Amino acid sequence: MEITNVMEYETIAREKLPKMVYDYYASGAEDQWTLQENRNAFSRILFRPRILIDVSSIDTTTTTLGFKVSMPIMIAPTAMQKMAHPEGELATARAASAAGTIMTLSSWGTSSVEEIASTGPGIRFFQLYVCKDRNVVIQLVKRAERAGFKAIVLTVDTPRLGRREADIKNRFALPSNLTLKNFEGLDLGKIDRTNDSGLASYVADQVDQSLSWKDVKWLQTITRLPILVKGVITAEDARLVVQAGAAGVIVSNHGARQLDYVPATIMSLEEVVKAVQGKVPVFLDGGVRRGTDVFKALALGASGVFIGRPVLFSLAADGEAGVRKVLQMLHDELELTMALSGCRSIKEITRAHVVTPWDNPHVAPRL
Ligand code: FNR
Repeated sequence: MEITNVMEYETIAREKLPKMVYDYYASGAEDQWTLQENRNAFSRILFRPRILIDVSSIDTTTTTLGFKVSMPIMIAPTAMQKMAHPEGELATARAASAAGTIMTLSSWGTSSVEEIASTGPGIRFFQLYVCKDRNVVIQLVKRAERAGFKAIVLTVDTPRLGRREADIKNRFALPSNLTLKNFEGLDLGKIDRTNDSGLASYVADQVDQSLSWKDVKWLQTITRLPILVKGVITAEDARLVVQAGAAGVIVSNHGARQLDYVPATIMSLEEVVKAVQGKVPVFLDGGVRRGTDVFKALALGASGVFIGRPVLFSLAADGEAGVRKVLQMLHDELELTMALSGCRSIKEITRAHVVTPWDNPHVAPRL
């Protein structure tokens, strides 16, 4: 069957992967309300396309933290990609480089920062979970720097793991042939089977629940890399991110895997964009599956988006070629959306190109 959209990879992955792995990738927390909402909310935002604009040439290129990218679509950190495919994160890194975009490597990758660097040139970010042992954090950040990673993505929505009931039922554990490569040699590389979710126990043991704003400052004393704070969904916190000196914000609810009943990220985006007042770029992840979703996020003020599950599912279906195809399809859909909306460049996408449920229906939208 020919794949014609990103969603179709999930069906293939579901058939191909062991249940424990598919469930771990696909699940959200508890009632999975936010999981559905991350998708549904996009469908309530509609277009206000402009016509009779010469769209014979469309430019999707942009910059992220000053780095040129082929499109405002990047790869979010997702853990343990070798459960999807033997080449795991290495295949993802190669696909991202080939597409001219950025890959974020998870702290809990089954490939190390050094292995990712060895795949060849490419712009990469390193996602950081702050462990209780700060020496481990310092070493990890230094290794990411030495391996040429260009930014630290600090995940702040996971002091404890959200309650993912499928993982509890499946007694989720990392298959014994795999390790969390960044922690190998530190005796933190394995996720054992417990009578609960193995990952939940791992997080409870390793992740520093006391992480706070002072640590965002501390992080800046151990690295010169720019820091993106991932997991911000309120204006209050967005302002604190700017005050703390971070380089940017990622509006994320962790793919609906942490606190259930938080709004869809596309619903939280504009609040955060307004709060940062253009001082730092704002990115979004969660439920992005179509070029139209990307356009909507940009129209509401995002500088770019990240994708999580589509990478895992396409990796499972077809390795590096699958991830390449996902990036290509999203690129082509975004380009088409731009053409049909009368936008020739990313800069031409404006708030007036969309209408949302919270726009006053009785007043003509601003131009
Ligand atoms: C994640 N996510 C995540 N985030 C993070 O900061 N560190 C991590 O290790 C992981 N691991 C992870 C594993 C799996 C299986 C998923 C699905 C997600 C969250 C991820 O970065 C991102 O926020 C969401 O995946 C975005 O939503 P979509 O695109 O999956 O809907």
